[in-house]
Amino acid sequence: MGVAIIGGTGLTSLKGLEIQRREVVHTPYGEPSGPVTHGLFHGREIIFLARHGYGHTIPPHRVNYRANLWALRHLGVERLVAVAAVGGISESMAPSVLAVPDQIIDYTWGREHTLFTDDLTHVTHIDFTEPYDAKLRQLMVDAGKAAEVPLVEQGTYAATQGPRLETAAEIRRLKHDGCDMVGMTGMPEAALARELELAYASCAVVANWAAGLHSAAITMEDIDRNLRLGMDRVRGLLGELIPNL
Ligand code: HPA
Repeated sequence: MGVAIIGGTGLTSLKGLEIQRREVVHTPYGEPSGPVTHGLFHGREIIFLARHGYGHTIPPHRVNYRANLWALRHLGVERLVAVAAVGGISESMAPSVLAVPDQIIDYTWGREHTLFTDDLTHVTHIDFTEPYDAKLRQLMVDAGKAAEVPLVEQGTYAATQGPRLETAAEIRRLKHDGCDMVGMTGMPEAALARELELAYASCAVVANWAAGLHSAAITMEDIDRNLRLGMDRVRGLLGELIPNL
């Protein structure tokens, strides 16, 4: 069963991936973020794709999510592990902690968010009650435990438009809405995965406390430092997860 990893900010390349070849895939929805990388990770064949491009040049609102997911499906991927940086809202979501969200609230706008646009004989109202694949989530949680990384096992992911970070009032609103973490790429990625019948789960890496919670301002230096530690932990988790898929 084909397995892919989409890497986000802080994970544009996957240390430990023995690269075999790169492949350019054209899709009916345009070009993916870059060529996909085929390789071996802990002995297992996987496909890796950098969500923001290998040079990290594509901002969250410009990522061609449809092309990325269509390309992976086209290559036979059935299970997709997403890695994404987030801001922490709940007390448990401290910087550099990992989290496996189980719910989403979508605040994005203006993004190409569905594959069902033209062939209206095939409009499908996907069930999205549980936006992530339960089995893959559980395997991710188990892998986090095996790797002994600090991991929050569930939480609600707020998908915001970006690329700017939020205002303090926006974060207060998200907290009031029941959100535990906030990121810019979780949607429409998760919904498109469901439309394509891909099993999808996300490993969120807390890069910073969300706006207004613990400091007057959020600096890129803080984000970079927290992400470095967080991504080392992600690699540990993936090392336990991928061989089991
Ligand atoms: N908000 C939105 N997206 C993010 C953040 C944040 O604070 N940190 C990392 N991605």
